[in-house]
Amino acid sequence: MRLVLLGPPGAGKGTQARLFQDKLGLQQIASGDLLRAAVRDRTPTGIDAKRYMDRGALVPDEVVLKLITERLAQTDAQQGFVLDGFPRTRAQAEALNQMLGSGGAIDRVIALMVPDAEVIKRISGRRTCRNCGAMYHMVFDPPRNLNHCNECNGELYQRDDDAEDTVRMRLQVYAAETRPLLEYYESLGALSRIDGIGRPEEVESRILAAIGPINAGVKTCA
Ligand code: AP5
Repeated sequence: MRLVLLGPPGAGKGTQARLFQDKLGLQQIASGDLLRAAVRDRTPTGIDAKRYMDRGALVPDEVVLKLITERLAQTDAQQGFVLDGFPRTRAQAEALNQMLGSGGAIDRVIALMVPDAEVIKRISGRRTCRNCGAMYHMVFDPPRNLNHCNECNGELYQRDDDAEDTVRMRLQVYAAETRPLLEYYESLGALSRIDGIGRPEEVESRILAAIGPINAGVKTCA
């Protein structure tokens, strides 16, 4: 199965992608994680991308497309994947269609619907494990030990782009560049809009209900 998760920053895309990876064995492929790894490793791509990420802007399409093309070619992506945070522009969506080719379609595009006020609350409380990437929320899902991961005891950190002003910019960018993709995928018959409010497991059940009957696949290539 090949899924795409769309939604504003903090909607819960990463949380849901991890649940799908753990329960269904679908590989989570997150463009934000690929970019943050490049920033951490101080590669030329990472140094360039950081300038955009720090101000809440999108990294240029060609940079993201190179990372995603390489990632989708890896062996573990051949058994199915869930794309988290990609595509984010019409050009990326069209490039994805081309990458997958006529033989490979996206089974379903899930749009997580979460209002801006909730997004700000979720992002301001988010903490991520530096070691294993596990995610917490200081109010909704706090770690047992204030600054350490329940799973591996790694240090928890707050992302540089989670400052409130940057989040507001990311929301504006989402509205201008990414939200139009909902209509694009709707016109292809591939979109399910899912209420993203509620416990993560409740949201997951709604997604499973939406993808259940369409295991045969919905073709998204124009
Ligand atoms: P990226 O890393 O993709 O960030 P994002 O899309 O802004 O999304 P987030 O990771 O902030 O949120 P999420 O929806 O995954 O929510 P999460 O599950 O963490 O991108 C970062 C930057 O990289 C971009 O700004 C851009 O610069 C660049 N970039 C990335 N991809 C790009 C692309 N394709 N093209 C160009 N540039 C790109 O949840 C958030 C919090 O809420 C957590 O604390 C979680 O525990 C909590 N939570 C989750 N679900 C629930 C729930 N149901 N109830 C209560 N709390 C919940």
